[in-house]
Amino acid sequence: MERVRITVFDTTLRDGEQSPGCSMNVHEKLRMAHQLDRLGVDVIEAGFPIASDGDFEAVQAVAAAVRRPTIAALARACTPDIERAWAALKGAVRPRIHVFLATSDIHLKYKLRITREQCLQQARESVALAKSFCDDVEFSTEDATRTDPDFLCEVVQAVVDAGATTVNIPDTVGYTIPSEYAQTIRMLRERVKGIENVTISVHCHDDLGMAVANSLAAIEAGARQVECTINGIGERAGNASLEELVMAMRVRADRYAFHTDVVSEQLYPASHTLTEITEVPVQPNKAIIGRNAFAHEAGIHQDGVLKNPLTYEIMTPHSVGVPDSRLVLGKHSGRHALSLRCEQLGFRFERRELDEIYRRFVVLADRIKHVEDHHLVELIQETTTTTVQMPTASAQGIPVAVIAAAAAANTSHTTDRAFTVQSTDARLEVSLSSLSEHHGDQEDYLWGV
Ligand code: KIV
Ligand code: ZN
Repeated sequence: MERVRITVFDTTLRDGEQSPGCSMNVHEKLRMAHQLDRLGVDVIEAGFPIASDGDFEAVQAVAAAVRRPTIAALARACTPDIERAWAALKGAVRPRIHVFLATSDIHLKYKLRITREQCLQQARESVALAKSFCDDVEFSTEDATRTDPDFLCEVVQAVVDAGATTVNIPDTVGYTIPSEYAQTIRMLRERVKGIENVTISVHCHDDLGMAVANSLAAIEAGARQVECTINGIGERAGNASLEELVMAMRVRADRYAFHTDVVSEQLYPASHTLTEITEVPVQPNKAIIGRNAFAHEAGIHQDGVLKNPLTYEIMTPHSVGVPDSRLVLGKHSGRHALSLRCEQLGFRFERRELDEIYRRFVVLADRIKHVEDHHLVELIQETTTTTVQMPTASAQGIPVAVIAAAAAANTSHTTDRAFTVQSTDARLEVSLSSLSEHHGDQEDYLWGV
């Protein structure tokens, strides 16, 4: 299957930083830009230079320091913005001026207070001005998905004629759906003369949770550039998430005949860098890079993953730069995962002893959300007297404190000691001596897994 290359336009430093709490200073933008460079994105939109002196400096600094990708800067369709964008960009090896103007009647009437005729003229003139500075000019028809289709074709025709090299069709308010968006892209390809000589770009917001699906539908319909952000940050509900787009194309290469030059192993490092900079946490269940994306708690799943990761993982954690899958010990976990974790902690048990540990583990896990290593070591101490094997230095990846706790195991065997979970919730104090009284029928089912 011949694969078409999709240009990845990253707007983490522009649309992304428009998320509440995500603004970045010059130093932070530079750090993120270097990570985006390592990630292999094609275009970095570094900022909106007219917005503030800080953003101007940030675009200038990124343009000077990051030399491989194209560096873009945003400008409204007016002279001061375009001149400011160019002033910030001119040190770049590959500069791009990105001009935008709203085209929907609702924006023209209430926000810009201009007619369609004025909009057409402003679009033409702004592209011509940007073109006088820079060959690479992108034009965005803001709120394209709520624009009258005939008028959208007229504006796109005007900017193509004026020399735009990329035409972006944003779903600014996250309103469209995949079939409709694909139809818009097909319509433009059919009706705009010369559009085959420019790159059609898509830019989707996630207000209905469809930004990634819409972007992929548009790519299938002929778009060749996708605008997106790390962790999906961006205005309101955010932008299409870069990591989801890239991995959808990679994992489902059987259905998507496209490829990007993104180095997927850099996805998690990029996400992590952004979180460190903005201090805005990623939701745990976020696809690809969330804390739980490769975590398995259910016993049936843990058992399957231990036998063969393909049973419940459609990509390897390594392929996206995540260090490893995580087996989370909780109330849905099975004996297979528990015994593996015990072994990793340096303990190996006879079948009957493991049964007893498992019985107590299930009762404990019913009361606390996650059974951490130190809980497990304490539980083992309380349960066993003779068969504990002392952990060795080779116990893989186990914190020294846990090994030390385990080493002390044989010294204290007070069976009535309270099992203190690190929480302010007093209800989480579980007496180990009472654990064995609580195991129920349900665990017979769990034993099989
Ligand atoms: O969402 C949008 O329309 C934008 C444009 C400036 C491209 O961010
Ligand atoms: Zn946007």
